Amino acid sequence: MDDLMAKLNESAGFIKARIPAKDIEIGIQLGSGLGGLGDEIEDAVYIPYSEVPNFPVSTVASHKGRFVVGTLSGRRVICMQGRVHFYEGYSMDKVVFPVQVMRMLGVKKLLVTNAAGCVNKDWSIGELMLIRDHIKLIADNPMRGPNPEALGQRFFDMSDAYSREARALARGCAEKLGITLREGVYQIFTGPCFETPAEIRFARLCGADAVGMSTVPEVIAANHCGMKVLGISCLTNMAAGILDAPVTDEEVCITANRVKKDFEALVREIIGAWE
Ligand code: HPA
Repeated sequence: MDDLMAKLNESAGFIKARIPAKDIEIGIQLGSGLGGLGDEIEDAVYIPYSEVPNFPVSTVASHKGRFVVGTLSGRRVICMQGRVHFYEGYSMDKVVFPVQVMRMLGVKKLLVTNAAGCVNKDWSIGELMLIRDHIKLIADNPMRGPNPEALGQRFFDMSDAYSREARALARGCAEKLGITLREGVYQIFTGPCFETPAEIRFARLCGADAVGMSTVPEVIAANHCGMKVLGISCLTNMAAGILDAPVTDEEVCITANRVKKDFEALVREIIGAWE
């Protein structure tokens, strides 16, 4: 564990040396096709993951792979344009390393976003979903192994993993902007294949409203180190077997691009209001 803390200190120190010495209030992780907002951050300092010591670098083409530190809606933010995924071959502890680095930089609030398949048949492609809770039936956990006591406790609560208070605020922001914001449960599958129709029926039985291949490890690690979390999924496609059509990455990207305006407006509003 000393090794993890040494690495976190080294990575956080590298970033600190590049940015103004002002408190960072909110961390933002932008998912597949949703990274554009990172380009709109003011007074931005860009730090490619490839330059940060100890950092995993994403192999996914649609992910830029850099931190953007600056101002959004008047707040000091650190934004991750792109993340690494379990399906790329990284162990879960590597996947969550950037979140732990953000905590070392003082971040106590984290907004995570992703593209997800819609399991709930009453909802539509292109709608946004506030994540109320998640289901992880895959047999791994980012906090498995020696516990980094300096970050958090061995056993930790996940009953408010997506902050109730912050969710109420997000609903208010959506209402103010006239944007439909669903609220539901996100279930992680490992990928990289999309799910089978039978797996989607199973997910629905489990109580899932959306499925995806990310976010859950980061949210577990964020809760471990005491961050408040908000999660927003962009429902880019109906999950497998719901429509008589294959699930494709192309559709995911096209939808994410189509809803960009609403997504970005909502994130901006939330960042401005999240005290
Ligand atoms: N399944 C898993 N991950 C996804 C999907 C999906 O249908 N859409 C976007 N990410």
